[in-house]
Amino acid sequence: MAPNRSGLKPPGADDWVRERFRRALTPTSGSPMGIIVGEARGCTVRDTDGVEHIDLLAGIGVAATGHGDPRILAAIDEQMQRHLHVMVYGEFVQETQLLLAERLLSLLPEPLSSLYFTNSGTEAVEGALKLVRKATGRTRLVSFHGGFHGDTLGSVSVGGNPLYRHPFMPLLPDVVFARFNDTASLDVIDTSVAGVIVEPVQAEAGVVLPDDGFLQELRERCTRVGALLIFDEVITGFGRTGSLFALQRYGVVPDVLVLAKALGGGLPLGAFVSPRNTAGVFSENPPLGHVTTFGGHPLSCAAGLASLEIILEDGLAEAAETTGAHLESLLRARLAHDSVREIRRAGLLIGIQMDTATHVAAFSEECRRERLILGWTLHDDTVVRLAPPLVITEVEVDEAVGRMHRALEKTVG
Ligand SMILES: Cc1ncc(COP(=O)(O)O)c(C=O)c1O
Repeated sequence: MAPNRSGLKPPGADDWVRERFRRALTPTSGSPMGIIVGEARGCTVRDTDGVEHIDLLAGIGVAATGHGDPRILAAIDEQMQRHLHVMVYGEFVQETQLLLAERLLSLLPEPLSSLYFTNSGTEAVEGALKLVRKATGRTRLVSFHGGFHGDTLGSVSVGGNPLYRHPFMPLLPDVVFARFNDTASLDVIDTSVAGVIVEPVQAEAGVVLPDDGFLQELRERCTRVGALLIFDEVITGFGRTGSLFALQRYGVVPDVLVLAKALGGGLPLGAFVSPRNTAGVFSENPPLGHVTTFGGHPLSCAAGLASLEIILEDGLAEAAETTGAHLESLLRARLAHDSVREIRRAGLLIGIQMDTATHVAAFSEECRRERLILGWTLHDDTVVRLAPPLVITEVEVDEAVGRMHRALEKTVG
């Protein structure tokens, strides 16, 4: 990495800079990680004092190809020289947008054939929810306890943790929650249901994997009653679970697929994909009934296209499975302790189930002192989540697990 070029602070003035951060930027928690970022390359985030942190979160599942891949930077640079924003989504033909849409569609199964670009995951979820209501003429939405779909009002309405819904009531009416991995609870899916939204692997719930046959059963229920099945692959997409999309890993094709995070190669980008005839309802009654100014920004699409080619050419989905298996076996060996109850994994999405939230908090804090970037999941504070860049090497994995072992010894003995 090149030397840091931050003009933000003189060396050693971290507290002063963090105080400015706390004052100027609306906080989202009382205890932000607070790394003062200098540069990021590969799996390393380097702070302005030159201290290197191993990134085991990839910006929460974004940096699949690692930070700052030169091929992505070159694609952004090339697009930047041509044009930035020129028109709202859906009006002008913009080359990088078209190429990325076509490339993605070529990798997806039928009937997923029409792609709408957004700026973020939550905006893509909002679009998907509107789409299923308009396409079916029904109102009811089914979601799952523990699910997470973003933080705008529609997405919060289908969020599966009451703690995060209650402060914002009233939310969307006619939302019903089923239990993940409980086929009996799928009985709520009847002919009144417009759509069912599900994460194929529930990430924020603590990396909860679907039981064998559960997603198939869900697919069948939806088909039987004419409800549209939405897969939220915002975090599981782009190789994270060991196949390009989790829908391939589990062999279930949804009616609507929601993408974001790694889609933009480090720039903001989301999308929802659906059958062409379903998507068609957005262009009439009324036309322009669902529009976005910046969705599918040309820079984001250029970065996304470069990132997708890297994921494919460098075999990063396969790498996620191989490196994930290595990481899992090391974790099992080196974190063998009563306080570590279970390790759950799909590719390079890993949940370390501990016995208490107190142990998770202490362990995570010690890991951060060991210069590891990790944390617990939003809906389960007894689970430590790992979602490193898919390019993480075995050497980096060995080093990271060594540090986690030390952190565990120091905190829970
Ligand atoms: C499964 C899932 N859906 C949706 C979202 C929302 O995405 P964004 O933060 O880009 O709005 C997230 C974000 O973490 C997510 O994990």
